[in-house]
This record gives sequence, C-alpha cells and structure tokens, in this order.
Amino acid sequence: MTDAFPKDFVWGAASSAYQIEGGAAQDGRGPSVWDTFCERPGAVRDGHTGDVACDHYNRFNDDVKLMADMGVRAYRFSISWTRVLPSGRGRINEKGLAFYGRLVDALLAAGIEPWATLFHWDYPEALQQQGGWLDRESPEWFARYAGVMSSALADRVTNWMTINEPQIFIGHGHGDGAHAPGLKLSMPERLVASHHVLLAHGRGVAAIREAAKRPVKVGWAVCGRADHPASESPADIEAARGAFNAVTKRDSWNNTFWADPVCLGRYPEDALRLFADEMPVYTAGDMKTISAPLDFYGVNIYSGDRWRAGEGGVPEVVPQGPGHPQTAFGWPITPGCMEWAVRFLHERYKLPIYITENGMASIDWVDSEGKVQDPQRIDFTRGYLRSLAKAANAGLCKGYFHWSILDNFEWAEGYRQRFGLVHVDFDTLARTQKESAKWYRGVMKSGVV
Ligand code: FCB
Repeated sequence: MTDAFPKDFVWGAASSAYQIEGGAAQDGRGPSVWDTFCERPGAVRDGHTGDVACDHYNRFNDDVKLMADMGVRAYRFSISWTRVLPSGRGRINEKGLAFYGRLVDALLAAGIEPWATLFHWDYPEALQQQGGWLDRESPEWFARYAGVMSSALADRVTNWMTINEPQIFIGHGHGDGAHAPGLKLSMPERLVASHHVLLAHGRGVAAIREAAKRPVKVGWAVCGRADHPASESPADIEAARGAFNAVTKRDSWNNTFWADPVCLGRYPEDALRLFADEMPVYTAGDMKTISAPLDFYGVNIYSGDRWRAGEGGVPEVVPQGPGHPQTAFGWPITPGCMEWAVRFLHERYKLPIYITENGMASIDWVDSEGKVQDPQRIDFTRGYLRSLAKAANAGLCKGYFHWSILDNFEWAEGYRQRFGLVHVDFDTLARTQKESAKWYRGVMKSGVV
C-alpha cells in the first residue's frame, strides 16, 4: 500500500534555537529563562544544559550541507530572541542578528526554504525579571523583536511563525513549573499571561507584515489535543469533534482557548464559563489585535486520544489496551490523530494547515557497523504520514516538518530523548544520518509514502 501526496506539498524538518544552537555565551548572546532554569538543581534531568547542545551556532554550514544531502526542501528553525536583543529589548546585537542572515543565505544557496519561528520558549531573562508575560507591556516587547527580525530577513524569508506551543510554555512554564521559567502561578495570573501571549502573537503578526518589504506568509505553531474518532461512524466522529473543540479542564492543554481568539476573534464560551471571574479584563480592541488575519495554521502533532460514542451515545475515550505501542518517551502511538486534527482544525478555522512538528523519541545509537538503525521511527512516520495523506489529498494540509532534524536538548529531559533524523554524539558532536533519514529522503523526493 502506498499513498501519494500532492506535488506541491512542502517537505521539511524542524528544530529550535535553544535545543540545537549552543554557543550560549558567544558573540554577545544574552541569557534566556532556559539558561537560568538549567542552572537550578534538579530542574533538568542529569543537570544537562543547552550551553553547547549540537553546537549548531558554529557548525550551521555543515548542518545545512547535511540537510541538502538528505534532500530536505524546507527547514523550520527558531530565532534566539536574546542573541538578537540580549536584554529582550533595547540594544540590537549585530553579531547575533548576522548569524541568522548567514543561516538563511546558506539555506537558500542549498535550495532549502527557510521557515522562521520567532519564539520557541527561550524568553529573555531580563524581561522575565521585569514581569515576563504578566506585564501588560510584554506584547509590545515581542512586537519590537518581531519587527527587528522581519526588517532583517523578510527580503529572504517568506514563511514566519510567531510563537511555538503556548499550551506548553504556559502550562509547564507558568503552571506546574516543570519548564522555564519554572513558575507556579495561580489560575487568574496564568490567564493574564495567556492573554498577553495571545496579544503578543497578534502584535507580532502586524509587526512582521509592517516591516516586511514584500508580501510574506504568517502563521503560528501550536499544539493541543489531537482527539480523533475510533471509527468513521458519524457518532464517533462527533464524539471526537466535541472533545477536540472543548475546554473542559483547568489547564492550558486544549485547542480552542488559544485558537478561537486568534482565528475567530473571541474566547470560546465553555472556557469563559470554566474560568468565569478568573478571566482578566480585556477589550474588544484586544480581540481585534489578537485576531490579526493569518495565512496558515501550523500545528505540532504527536499523539491523541481515540473517542467513540459510548452507551447512550455518551462520548468516551477508548482505553488503550495492554502493550499499546509507545515511544521511548512513553507517548502513545496514534497515527489516526494526524488526519483528524487537520480535518477538525480546517473545519473550524478554514486556514491551510501545516504540520510544523511530528516525530518520536527512540533509543538510538551508532552500531558496530557505523549505522543508526531506527526502524521504529520509520514505521511511526510512515503510519502518521499515511494518515496525513488523506487530509493532504483533500486539500487541507500543505506541508509536513519532521521533528527533528538533529537529536537535541529535549527541555526538562535533557539529552536523554532522541528525536533526530540525524544522530548526534554529544561527546564528539559527530553527526550520523539515521536509517530514517535515508528513508525520509526517498519520501521527500517521491512524495509517496
Ligand atoms: C514539542 C516542542 C519541541 C520538542 C518536541 C518533542 O512540544 O515544540 O521543542 O521538544 O515537543
């Protein structure tokens, strides 16, 4: 069985600045909340940090060659805010800015389309100390940074994403404290921070467009629930759709609390009921700013619950049987979530969808023959892509970025979880293409999986 993707489907791989760059103290980069968080005893597994990571800051030319060799057509990377603005605002660090210019030039010269994310969690420490996302000025700080990057790169970078996964950096960074900046805010404070993040996104969209000297495409890259139906029966589909679009829990792990304001200009009714008088005061002007029109919707998909209409039609999650397939991280393998997340998002928000991340952690090493055998990653990706092919051929999804190009610093898990298509030896920093990279090369070339 094979599935062919549309000819113009965008094939790529992804990374983020703090997870691969290293060079933490090089050329005037300022500290981010992840630098400080990593210093906290016990915060990150085995005390790992992103100080060196994959040393991509110094090896980007080789990494671009590697990507070209792998047949990567599009590369999603993020910009380190504090490389460019060491204190988050104020003085521009020209050396840091120049790095991204060189990276973009190298990518374009290699025939690889750059896709830039402005904020992938490495928030400036200096701004954190001034209140971070709790400060009403924080959207303006972000807008300034977005404008700086757009003036510098929009002549060459067409595709932009404002923020990555607010669900996680609010949920873990400001809720349970498992991620930087390690805060455990009260619910009303968390909601204030969330509202400011949404405003920053909207202000960022406007700033990117304003500073670009030509038309650009702007989106974001979020995650959320990937609820999907256990069968194609209308009742099961409805059960999954209901869960996908609902805000039922007092956490940030949902789709609509974030995406309804951005794409529809309003908070969803169920969230307003759930958080009732805990919501911050906001204006119609705020909602207009937040809902600045987007060109695409980027979504990161890893795993999701399967739903069915249970007894009396009541929606219920289908329990996973014993031994259900899972990744090294323990994330359940549920390929059907790909097709349905795209269908549900497109149905509600009517935007072209890009899968801005998908992949899995596995236990990989360079074997005695010098190869990295990762058949699970190949099978995982094949299954998810076959599911995605249905949505792509229905015209709903336009591209796919595998997470990740390189093994990297997996946040609170340190270097233990390997997500790369390319293996990195963190002692020697040697790169070795995994078997999955060779397989993926064929997929990108043929568009057939
Ligand atoms: C996502 C993050 C990304 C990476 C993957 C595994 O939540 O956006 O940086 O850590 O998970």
